Amino acid sequence: MPNIRDTKEQSEEMSQNRIERQKRAYEELLQGNRDWVEMETAKDPEYFAKLAAGQEPDVLWIGCSDSRVPANEVTNTKPGQVFVHRNIANVCVHSDMNMLSVLDYAVNVLKVKHVIVAGHYGCGGIAAALSNKQFGLIDNWLRHIKDVYRLHSNELDRITDENVKLNRLVELNVIEQVYNLCKTTIVQNAWREREDLEIHGWVIDLNSGLVKDLQVTAKSSENLGKVFKLDESKVK
Ligand code: CO
Repeated sequence: MPNIRDTKEQSEEMSQNRIERQKRAYEELLQGNRDWVEMETAKDPEYFAKLAAGQEPDVLWIGCSDSRVPANEVTNTKPGQVFVHRNIANVCVHSDMNMLSVLDYAVNVLKVKHVIVAGHYGCGGIAAALSNKQFGLIDNWLRHIKDVYRLHSNELDRITDENVKLNRLVELNVIEQVYNLCKTTIVQNAWREREDLEIHGWVIDLNSGLVKDLQVTAKSSENLGKVFKLDESKVK
């Protein structure tokens, strides 16, 4: 049995290793930045001058914060092509000023043509919402996903395989978030002015890297529930 002194030295050594690893990881980020600048400049000496000139993205991506689903890599696009908002489990809540500001700016100033809600199978946020564990502050955020479960409990309660249930909730969450975007005044008013705004729902499969288009694309307020449809003019 190790004596207390050995155990203490061991744990000090472990935390020292951890500190060094973290320091290295941080320095690797700065080195990675310099490598990226060098690589892009070698391909096109004007690359950063063009990037600095402005952006005209056609797409707004609302995805999960998960480190494995970065918008540009998943879609093989470059900086400048995709305007991005990410949060845990790609939730679109109509009282979230951050999401609304991004949506309003993307739709009304950048005039994007496509808004994509992109979830991913095996999402930790959805798994946490499916469980009964407490995780802290995030439990309040995950409540929105428990509400999605409640809306679809007839279907979900019948699924016995936990993994199948998790992945179906991932899909249903994306679908509900697409509808949530359609219900906003931002999207409803934009549809009155132009016909080229589409809201899509995708799920990324991390096992293959491939995207599944859930075929729930919305192009007008037509299918919104009556209570969510808003009149053109504001109440005076
Ligand atoms: Co996730």
